[in-house]
Amino acid sequence: MRVTHRFASRSYSTLNLAKASSKSVFPNERYFKPEIVTGEVPGPKSKELLQNLNNVQDLRTTHFVSDYSKSSGNYIADADGNIYLDTFMQISSIPLGYNHPALIEAAKSEEWVTTAINRPAVGINPSSDYYKLLMDSYMRVAPKGLTQVQPLSTGSEAIENAFKAAFMWYQQNQRGGPTQPFSKEDLDSCMANSAPGSPQLSILSFSTCFHGRSMAALSVTRSKALHKVDIPAFDWPVAPFPHLKYPLDQYEKENRATEDACLAEVEKIIKSCTKPGRYGPVAAVVVEPVQAEGGDRHASPYFFQSLRRITKEQGVIFIVDEVQTGGGGTGKFWAHEHWDLQDSPDIVCFSKKLQAAGFFYKKELTPNMGYRIFNTWLGDPLRALQLRTIIDVIEKDDLLKNVNETGRVLFDGLRQLEKTYGHKGLIKNVRGKGCFGAFDCKDPATRDALIMELRRRGVEAGGSGESTIRLRPALVFTSKHAEIFLNILNECMSKL
Ligand SMILES: Cc1ncc(COP(=O)(O)O)c(C=O)c1O
Repeated sequence: MRVTHRFASRSYSTLNLAKASSKSVFPNERYFKPEIVTGEVPGPKSKELLQNLNNVQDLRTTHFVSDYSKSSGNYIADADGNIYLDTFMQISSIPLGYNHPALIEAAKSEEWVTTAINRPAVGINPSSDYYKLLMDSYMRVAPKGLTQVQPLSTGSEAIENAFKAAFMWYQQNQRGGPTQPFSKEDLDSCMANSAPGSPQLSILSFSTCFHGRSMAALSVTRSKALHKVDIPAFDWPVAPFPHLKYPLDQYEKENRATEDACLAEVEKIIKSCTKPGRYGPVAAVVVEPVQAEGGDRHASPYFFQSLRRITKEQGVIFIVDEVQTGGGGTGKFWAHEHWDLQDSPDIVCFSKKLQAAGFFYKKELTPNMGYRIFNTWLGDPLRALQLRTIIDVIEKDDLLKNVNETGRVLFDGLRQLEKTYGHKGLIKNVRGKGCFGAFDCKDPATRDALIMELRRRGVEAGGSGESTIRLRPALVFTSKHAEIFLNILNECMSKL
């Protein structure tokens, strides 16, 4: 359902909430709007609990302490009884909102209980129903062309192991194929961390990207110095990510030139790394479909198609990091489906909205022997069960359609707010796909003030990059919720 907004006036009441779709895709959502009952947020209970928590765990990053038993659908409750409309959803990681009845029901089953209390070391003793579970969960959403999955535990772990798969594939090819044995020199030298057993190979990533905080993932991360400072890093190359002008459809010509310059640099780096020099040969290129932590930076399908072409021509693995974009937030299950690729990526990493992490990959990337990509758990079958139910609900309730419908209302409203409040530096460069959206403020202080003002009025929102606000609602966020959010944003902007 299409809802029209009128933001010309600063008055909150100009928006007609009654016109918003009354359709709810979250059954019996407990709240109809946010409600803040404490004078300030976080409230006193939240503060006290946080003080205790910080005595034993460093949780200085906390927004507020939550009460998940009282949270429902798109609304998160805090320890003081405040109810917030959640547009951030645990850093983009909750697909169906809080306490979805289908998940509650599934969790009561004997299958869930057995799986929860008997967590297997999957690489050693997978259960007799594990194959069926893999097929009913991960493999149901496997990106086109990727026939293999490696479940793991976090986004960073997915990235780390995707790099290992790319390195092993590269070296295997150097040796003449998977059946060729390791040489004695390879086996001896790797024990001293030196070549040829520990080869000088590299991963090419992009400026302002984020791929996680474990060691190799952090080496390719380029979004914030604070993430990286003090940590030894692999000396790997970086290419410029196109910083485009928005709206993309109005700046196609300029943006194409920017993208072409970045692509030329990618090709140059890959070619120069085959010669002796600072970096070893590039085994893989890793890229996010939308640079999320780095400030919601978009590039065009042409850019990604060209990256796929270049990596293929140069014999380099193409890794698409869908940790934040995967799972439906962009209106397609995988954001890279928006690119219309002739040939799929070689590896797709996932986590967050799937509630289970890991990577999908092409069969030829399977290592030559077992134990080469391995750890105690190799994921968690409980998370696969959860994913199975999540996919059931996404399909049954047609949630991707809902994301696209809601997205139209959301962006329509944001663009109107941009017209009204752009001159105040509160909102510019509105951008996004589905409900995976963002806008910039004029500076970091203004962004932070707007996030705080939203929270005071009962909206949980997240920042990214220098001065960006990112929207990462659940797939059950409807046009009704979008209207409530837009109205509160309108109030905040008229006040600031
Ligand atoms: C694109 C991307 N890759 C990797 C990661 C790391 O995931 P995790 O925090 O689960 O290790 C994140 C986390 O925000 C991410 O956004």
